Amino acid sequence: MDQSFRAILVNETSDKNFDVKVSQRYISELPDNDILIRVFYSGLNYKDALSASGNKGITRKYPHTPGIDAAGVIVDSRVPEFKKGEEVIVTGYDLGMNTSGGLAEYICVPASWVVRRPEKLSLEEAMIIGTSGFTAASGIYEFIKHGVQPESGEVLITGATGAVGSMAIAMLSKSGYHVVAVSGKPDAAEWLKQLGAERIISRDEAIEPTGKPLLPGKWAAVLDTVGGNMLSTAIRSTKERGIVANCGMIVSNELNVSVFPFILRAVRLIGIASAETPMKRRLEIWDLIQSELKPTLLPLISRTISLEQVPAELQLMLKGKQQGKVIVSL
Ligand SMILES: NC(=O)c1ccc[n+]([C@@H]2O[C@H](COP(=O)([O-])OP(=O)(O)OC[C@H]3O[C@@H](n4cnc5c(N)ncnc54)[C@H](OP(=O)(O)O)[C@@H]3O)[C@@H](O)[C@H]2O)c1
Repeated sequence: MDQSFRAILVNETSDKNFDVKVSQRYISELPDNDILIRVFYSGLNYKDALSASGNKGITRKYPHTPGIDAAGVIVDSRVPEFKKGEEVIVTGYDLGMNTSGGLAEYICVPASWVVRRPEKLSLEEAMIIGTSGFTAASGIYEFIKHGVQPESGEVLITGATGAVGSMAIAMLSKSGYHVVAVSGKPDAAEWLKQLGAERIISRDEAIEPTGKPLLPGKWAAVLDTVGGNMLSTAIRSTKERGIVANCGMIVSNELNVSVFPFILRAVRLIGIASAETPMKRRLEIWDLIQSELKPTLLPLISRTISLEQVPAELQLMLKGKQQGKVIVSL
């Protein structure tokens, strides 16, 4: 018998709006892939909000179940490398984009997307970290690889109260880095300090509008989630041989900057594309997370919600009002 399960389903309505609600789906509707997983936790990411609101750059066809992250137990496997009963996580690749995603009790995915649960993380912790924490850790991995150390100087995090930003602050401060957070939420200042930010600056302070090619060098490294002029200002304000890692474009996908920071200060701009991280590096980064970066304050960063609460939370995310990481218990 074809088993039914609960899932978020996004439907395109006749007036080109997108309706998001909990629906009953069937295993037979899932893609025909190697591994069927009973999902116990998922987590919300900005990409899910875009998918649920009809962004065709993320999801081409509706009805669709978003959710780029999932953690659960294998219930059926066609490949010898993975066995029924193993606890696994799936983040990124095409999950939740054009493949039925993790905001559902079941997913069916290729074996090449599946990662065994890192042994020092529970399924729940793996989803609090999820793509956002993995992305923050990917930036930190680049800082370390390029020689940025805690003694190198202050590290700037933009979009600080967001899922990526808050996780980056907690991970960096745990590793002894001096973190400066850019936030547009003055009320969240105390929370950001608890996570480990030493200083908080406003969005206005983090944007230099005149476009001067170089600004006084302040940052040893930057993790930017915002793009646009905030990214341009960060590049122009980075110290000699500093690293700027960009993962997002909350404000803009445009970048207006001269080559001077690169040719006069050897600033390096590195792109983070966590969904496509090759498996070898993916496992190295999960290992770095579980061994060194896992924040002690995970409960302070996260809130757990039910599937029914997902539509409202996705709206908050689109309005830039989300704080920290929201995980979904299934
Ligand atoms: N490349 C990758 O692999 C990858 C992976 C994960 C996420 N991302 C991207 O990274 C970005 C952040 O993701 P997220 O999950 O952290 O999103 P999020 O939880 O929604 O957080 C975004 C944060 O951006 C800040 N923000 C919102 N509107 C802003 C504005 N108008 N000007 C400046 N800052 C603004 C807010 O922080 P404050 O209020 O504190 O300023 C907000 O909390 C998104 O673009 C996402 O698509 C990329």
